[in-house]
Amino acid sequence: MAAARLMACIPRSCMSRLAASRLPSWEEQAPAVQSRRSSLSGVCYLTMGLLVLLLGLVFASMYVYRYFFITQLPRESVFHCGVLYEDSLYSPFKGQLELHEDVKIYIEENYEQINVPVPQFGGSDPADIIHDFQRGLTAYHDITLDKCYVIELNTTIVMPPRNLWELLVNVKKGTYLPQTYIIQEEMIATEHVHDMEQLGSFIYRLCSGKETYRLKRRSARRRISRREAGNCHRIRHFENTFVVETVICKKS
Ligand SMILES: *[C@@H]1O[C@H](CO)[C@@H](O)[C@H](O)[C@H]1NC(C)=O
Repeated sequence: MAAARLMACIPRSCMSRLAASRLPSWEEQAPAVQSRRSSLSGVCYLTMGLLVLLLGLVFASMYVYRYFFITQLPRESVFHCGVLYEDSLYSPFKGQLELHEDVKIYIEENYEQINVPVPQFGGSDPADIIHDFQRGLTAYHDITLDKCYVIELNTTIVMPPRNLWELLVNVKKGTYLPQTYIIQEEMIATEHVHDMEQLGSFIYRLCSGKETYRLKRRSARRRISRREAGNCHRIRHFENTFVVETVICKKS
């Protein structure tokens, strides 16, 4: 409120100072009034000067922020990452497992590409994954099967490119993310996708020429039976602070 009053009062006294200087009766004014006026205008110019300086500072810091945090972001960043996690899904007493992957983040295009190599200890498939935030789609290319699977992007599991970039920059010094855990999600392959172009150019590039299916989340959280397990493939990956095992099953 004080600032608002200052803003409101300063220009007016400046105006009166300017108006006074144009008045022919200026010379006839009493010296006391004159000196009071000029000291007042001194304060006024000083305050306006400070305001201009402050504005300059605000713009300068905005520029610096934009320069360092927006233009300085590389268009594409590649991270080679590893995590240690407790495999609570299958072998709760086996201790720690390791997962490696390459993460490419495209901040401007708003998508992430993850390459999971053949894991050291079997059980899951190597894969290429794209999370396209512009389209709101995720695609898994299971390299073992050479098939593609597409589903709506789940933003509670997948960090947006910018946030993931920040996370990975912060853990870059130590190559490993801190000790983490694994969650599981189960999917069922549904209809065959024929019109690949509806999936956007990034997923199109990944999946064109490959058998592609839509996925549906399996709602009930239940153990996959032994008979079903033969129809399922697992992909372990991470794009957040935890590991996700995506289990993709054929419709039985
Ligand atoms: C996203 O993933 C979480 C954790 O697995 C799950 O609880 C949630 O239902 C999923 N959301 C959608 C829209 O699939």
